Amino acid sequence: MIITTENLTYKYGVGTPFEKTALNNVSIGIEDGDYVGIIGHTGSGKSTLISHFNAILKPTSGRVYVDGEDLWQENKLKRIQTRFKVGLVFQYPEYQLFEDTVYNDIAFGPKNMGLSDKDIEQRVMMATEFVGLDKKYLEKSPFDLSGGQKRRVAIAGVMAMSPKVLVLDEPAAGLDPRGRDEILARIREYHQETKSTVLLVSHSMEDIAKNANSIIVMNRAECMMHASVKEVFEKAEELEKIGLDIPQITKVFISLNKLGYKVSPDIYTVEDARDEIMRCIKDGDVK
Ligand SMILES: Nc1ncnc2c1ncn2[C@@H]1O[C@H](COP(=O)(O)OP(=O)(O)OP(=O)(O)O)[C@@H](O)[C@H]1O
Ligand SMILES: [Mg+2]
Repeated sequence: MIITTENLTYKYGVGTPFEKTALNNVSIGIEDGDYVGIIGHTGSGKSTLISHFNAILKPTSGRVYVDGEDLWQENKLKRIQTRFKVGLVFQYPEYQLFEDTVYNDIAFGPKNMGLSDKDIEQRVMMATEFVGLDKKYLEKSPFDLSGGQKRRVAIAGVMAMSPKVLVLDEPAAGLDPRGRDEILARIREYHQETKSTVLLVSHSMEDIAKNANSIIVMNRAECMMHASVKEVFEKAEELEKIGLDIPQITKVFISLNKLGYKVSPDIYTVEDARDEIMRCIKDGDVK
């Protein structure tokens, strides 16, 4: 396990009239190299949960381990080293760009890690490629870039730190459908090539189905499910009760399967649906 939480509880505003339990006894284990989707309605605790993975928030009670190390252990140096293993991309990260050039913005993290100039440059180039940003932008001011490009710069800045775990909070929010697919495809490539662990917080079941291997479902400050995409989608009725919907196309195939058609019920994307229909026609399953 690369990240483990044990009875993680977090309360905002402890001791004030606004006290709010945002995480209640969450115990989860994230496997090294997995691509995990985190879903749940607004206010269910997703952002609070991931903010614990690089020690931005300190548990009110319970523990968080990264790579086997307790994030809040006494040894401060170890704690800092452990924090670098998790890279967090906040929602709307483009608002946190502040350097004079795109290059310097992407280089900010690696610089803070104390790397040599040569290593920093290598990291910046690698990350620029991963997010699909043209190198001509590196010397420009980040403020001259479009919204989508700024988002890429911000994500590249975290990738440049080569974290073992890359955590992204709604990385596609506010982008047009093409921009969404493009960014998610880049992240998928990053996951495959670096063999790192990726955690993706998203409101979109489709996006999670297309990208993740497993899903954490948050509901009212608790982890309600943590299983493979297939296992979670099999519980469509339970998900519906808490206001979450499985992808439309999955519903269609589950219904077809129930009606007796020999189609797989584990279809999450329109592309998979097309392939499955073609297979059925070829195999003579559908007349
Ligand atoms: N800084 C804060 N002070 C007080 N309460 C907060 C704070 N941040 C979050 N909360 C509350 O904690 C709960 C969990 O919030 P959190 O932001 O983790 O949810 P979320 O699942 O990320 O929601 P969203 O999908 O809207 O991003 C919510 O009830 C929220 O109102
Ligand atoms: Mg959130």
